[in-house]
Amino acid sequence: MTDLELYERAKAAAERAYAPYSNFLVGAALLGRDGRVWEGVNVENASYSLGVCAERAAIARAVSEAGRRPGDFEAIAITASPCGGCRQWLVEFGLERVVYADNHGRIVTHTPDDLLPDTFVL
Ligand code: THU
Repeated sequence: MTDLELYERAKAAAERAYAPYSNFLVGAALLGRDGRVWEGVNVENASYSLGVCAERAAIARAVSEAGRRPGDFEAIAITASPCGGCRQWLVEFGLERVVYADNHGRIVTHTPDDLLPDTFVL
């Protein structure tokens, strides 16, 4: 699967987002090293801070449904620039490539280290 195909998966997933408060629909598609793709969307809540981002939803699925771990993933595509908290997750799970639509709508590719240098680790 190419990065562009992965991005198309994220775009299709975004249609399922639950974002009645922001109306900002986000989709993510996470590519495992085994070729499996995990999709996620943002899921909001009336108590705003309880909402979950699309990329975290995708990673949580792969962990909870299949026991995936850091290092098990090749790339993730996201229909928006990843927020600060999600960048910390992308570092934790050792993504090789992060493909996303930047704030100008351009599809760009970066490493998690580019996106969050000198990251906090335990
Ligand atoms: N959002 C994501 O799903 N991923 C990001 O990395 C950026 C922000 C969502 C969270 C919220 O539901 C909406 O976009 C507006 O912030």
